Amino acid sequence: MSIPFIDLKAQYRALQPQIQERINRVLEHGQYIMGPEVKELEDKLQAYTGAKHCITVASGTEALLISLMALGIQPGDEIITTPFTFVATTEVIVLLGAKPVFVDIEPDTCNIDARKIEAKITKKTKAIMSVSLYGQVADMDEINAIAKKHNLPMIEDAAQSFGAEYKGKKSCNLSTIGCTSFFPSKPLGCYGDGGAIFTNDESIALACREIRVHGQSQRYVHTRVGVGGRMDTIQCAVVLAKLERFDWEIAQRQRIAQRYHELLTAGEIGLVSVRPDRTSVYAQYTVLVPDRDALQKRLSEAGIPTAVHYPVPLNEQPAYKHLCCSDCTPIAQQIAKRVMSLPMSPDLSAEDQDKIVGALLA
Ligand SMILES: Cc1ncc(COP(=O)(O)O)c(C=O)c1O
Repeated sequence: MSIPFIDLKAQYRALQPQIQERINRVLEHGQYIMGPEVKELEDKLQAYTGAKHCITVASGTEALLISLMALGIQPGDEIITTPFTFVATTEVIVLLGAKPVFVDIEPDTCNIDARKIEAKITKKTKAIMSVSLYGQVADMDEINAIAKKHNLPMIEDAAQSFGAEYKGKKSCNLSTIGCTSFFPSKPLGCYGDGGAIFTNDESIALACREIRVHGQSQRYVHTRVGVGGRMDTIQCAVVLAKLERFDWEIAQRQRIAQRYHELLTAGEIGLVSVRPDRTSVYAQYTVLVPDRDALQKRLSEAGIPTAVHYPVPLNEQPAYKHLCCSDCTPIAQQIAKRVMSLPMSPDLSAEDQDKIVGALLA
């Protein structure tokens, strides 16, 4: 029997009564779009993160797109970001006609290297967008200081880091805007697509709320260009049910990651560092390995699934490589060849973890 890469079934079994009750309630009241669960979830997520405003949206990608639209990003504008991330981070920049300017990553955390950002700022720079990769926030104080010095808004792509902490504050409430994803495999996932935008800025929040519903300020009054970007009521109901054991799940992920760390310190396996002033929620548990293809094949034959987050930096992807230098981020280039993610779920048993580690070190 193969070990699940992410065990969503075990999570469902643990929360089945709450999830079903929440979904049934929506089926009974029938307000599938913008029903009461949308506001209830936004209120709970605001309280959880400490941000003044939470706007739920159709996905993490939509959260990033709506945020950039709310900031008024225009064709030709430059956005400083990392190439070592899921494609959505760059996709939304390019969709608006803006240009991603890639900054290399730190070799130990795989997050954007804050020390390399300032050299990439030009007159055309209109925002900085960091990614809290694998569930760990980047050097936010340093990045916010650069953003402040140059009067730029700062967006945290927190699709992988909802629940993580940085110097005691929650991810999503660390910069001008925080964007997260409730994709099913994320630490806090729904049963389809979903996402949320967080901000403490009143006018940005208003813009995001209007853009989410086709730029509408009142019914059929479209004061800005928008999108159809709402999160379904049923998906909000699922997240509300999952919030009940979310803190326990984070603690489990951190306990399991700590055990991976301890078991894997020997040998040729490289570990991703987590800085002492922050926590990771381990959206992925990723290690650095030599000869990845052969190792993945061997593990797969032993019933152990693995994944690669991410095999090619975005500045080398066919759709994006013409936009920016493709060889200006050598660390991302090298790291992309070595990363491999192992099974990680709050319900992963010690027995299965031993099997994974045993096969990895064999
Ligand atoms: C770093 C990052 N940004 C953005 C996204 C996009 O989120 P979604 O899949 O909800 O659109 C993801 C999710 O895969 C992600 O990992």
